[in-house]
Amino acid sequence: MNRMTILGIETSCDETAAAVVRGSAGGPADILSNIVFSQFDEHAPYGGVVPEIAARAHIERLDAIVGEALSVAGIALKDVDGVAATAGPGLIGGVIVGLMTAKGLAAAAGKPFVPINHLEGHALSVRLTEAVAFPYLLLLVSGGHCQLINVAGVGRYEVLGSTIDDAVGEAFDKTAKLLGLGFPGGPAVEAVAERGDPRRFLLPAPLKGRSNCDFSFSGLKTAVRRAAEQAGTLSPQDVSDLCASFQAAVSASLLDRTARAFDKFTARFADAPMQLVVAGGVAANQALRARFGELCEARGAALFVPPPRLCTDNGAMIAWAGLERLSQEGSEGGGERLDAPPRARWPLTELKAT
Ligand code: KG4
Ligand code: ZN
Repeated sequence: MNRMTILGIETSCDETAAAVVRGSAGGPADILSNIVFSQFDEHAPYGGVVPEIAARAHIERLDAIVGEALSVAGIALKDVDGVAATAGPGLIGGVIVGLMTAKGLAAAAGKPFVPINHLEGHALSVRLTEAVAFPYLLLLVSGGHCQLINVAGVGRYEVLGSTIDDAVGEAFDKTAKLLGLGFPGGPAVEAVAERGDPRRFLLPAPLKGRSNCDFSFSGLKTAVRRAAEQAGTLSPQDVSDLCASFQAAVSASLLDRTARAFDKFTARFADAPMQLVVAGGVAANQALRARFGELCEARGAALFVPPPRLCTDNGAMIAWAGLERLSQEGSEGGGERLDAPPRARWPLTELKAT
């Protein structure tokens, strides 16, 4: 199959990222470079991502990050087969910075430009490192999203369930903020939870037992706040126990919802093997990965989770989605995409196969 080299740019939240990926559709591919600059220091004083600060930080750094991605890959812009960038969903200022930069590079070099849906980047990221065939069940867990999706092919997504309030990464971030663990919250909660007792605090596993595949995390967030208030002054061990209990409740909820989705996946794809992919920033959580391993073993399903650095936002997954799309449509049509608009909101279900 035709091998391609794609430059990918990601700026939809607080990571300024660019990468060069070489391979052919279906994967796995070679990651020639994957440069990620996380704007932790810029946002830490505010305990969360400030959109205006993020957009300015992307403007200041993106050119250098793209230059570094090309030089680490050892290639010039003229040697790539296409330029891909996140066109949404995300914080609109940041999306505009990455999208306009990528369009400018593509136009200047006479290369096809491929606008990428950030969620599709996460959805296909597993194929970058493992040749996982379609269809698979995807649990997408990030700072902005929590969804169960049947992935039937590139651009062919059927949403089985979504969060009715907060995303799961948001719940990690808010719990961290409440307990004074700093920003970003997910890795901080995970680190502290390692020393904690998950049975110390009894927290609800949201929507456990419901017949649908939806999620809810705002009640859990409130339960953590109440437990913290009731405990009074929190010792480091209290904080660890609370984080471990929170993480256990999140796991129980995610596992229960995903087990429901197994049945829907099997009903939809009767002859396909049961394959679960967990992707997005929260999939970097090792405790969670272990629990999903147990679930899949019990259910005779195959589990695929991208390596942690490809779970959190990065340019390689955007380059990869660009490669999968470009190899579907042929490079001729790519130039027309220069008019693709930036989008704050862009559900996966609005995508089409090319
Ligand atoms: O995919 P991502 O980098 O950005 C979005 O598209 O949202 O996900 C970021 C989210 C944040 O909420 C962060 O706290 C969470 O993923 N996260 C984690 C871990 N690493 C990142 N949550 C739990 N455990 C982790 N180790
Ligand atoms: Zn993301």
